[in-house]
Amino acid sequence: MFAPSLFENKTILVSGGRSGIGFAISKAFLEHGAEVFIASRKKELLEKAAEELNQFGKCHAVPCDIRSPEDINALATAIQETTGRLDILINNAGGQFPAPAHVMAEKGWAAVINNNLNGTFYMCQKIANSFFIPQNSGNIINITANVLRGFPGMAHTGAARAGVENLTKSLGQEWATYGIRVNAVAPGTIDTTGLDNYPPFMRNFFRKTEGKNLMKRFGKAEDVANAVLFLSSPLASYISGVTLPVDGLEHLAGDRMDMYNALMKMMK
Ligand SMILES: NC(=O)c1ccc[n+]([C@@H]2O[C@H](COP(=O)([O-])OP(=O)(O)OC[C@H]3O[C@@H](n4cnc5c(N)ncnc54)[C@H](OP(=O)(O)O)[C@@H]3O)[C@@H](O)[C@H]2O)c1
Repeated sequence: MFAPSLFENKTILVSGGRSGIGFAISKAFLEHGAEVFIASRKKELLEKAAEELNQFGKCHAVPCDIRSPEDINALATAIQETTGRLDILINNAGGQFPAPAHVMAEKGWAAVINNNLNGTFYMCQKIANSFFIPQNSGNIINITANVLRGFPGMAHTGAARAGVENLTKSLGQEWATYGIRVNAVAPGTIDTTGLDNYPPFMRNFFRKTEGKNLMKRFGKAEDVANAVLFLSSPLASYISGVTLPVDGLEHLAGDRMDMYNALMKMMK
């Protein structure tokens, strides 16, 4: 629906681009003329995904753990040596696990905050300093989650994603002077292989809740990719500092306690 040349001559970095939502985002950019770098930890899976994505355009795989500033510096160098510039950063990498807050181990809490909040900040800061600030142009989209009414059952990711949404507002303001726009997209439950990473009782929970929101379906990875393309494009050139929910109204309606209640029932 967008012009196929919309991202011609643009270079995009998608963290976590090897799977699920990140893969759909990478594919959509490639189909609209961009050159794409995908980055995540599992080298073999990353390279396999890049091979698959190469049928839609030029895609490079660079292993990187977003929790490691050294890895991100090496990633920036690899991009510098390949294309010499970067136009758009999609911070999509992340993960979490279900647990009621009162039994959440300190280590688990810290791991999710480190990945989803600190990792996202390191990526924003290092990529802005390597490319966007010197170029005087850039675009960042942070993928968060439906956290407007909290996230009972996954309080760690709720806090981390709310932090990223606030970071989006701060960076949007601080970096407007460099021609950088910073926005976020907040997916509701999206039917991806990412849901398979949850334990079996959670997968059952997801299947039971499918079709229960006001739009009667889970989201598709492409629903998220379309929103990301819009916010990354010149069509959104006056939009910065916002979070766009892509969630079939889940941020407004529906039982926000259902995951927590299912967890508590399972633990009895
Ligand atoms: N699916 C949903 O319903 C939903 C809803 C709201 C938000 N989200 C969020 O949207 C994003 C994509 O979700 P998805 O469903 O597509 O899940 P997914 O397939 O599990 O994707 C997560 C990706 O992030 C990468 N990753 C995780 N930690 C990383 C790290 N420290 N450094 C670099 N890469 C890392 C993973 O690759 P490696 O394992 O190779 O590192 C993987 O490719 C995630 O942040 C997820 O939490 C998903």
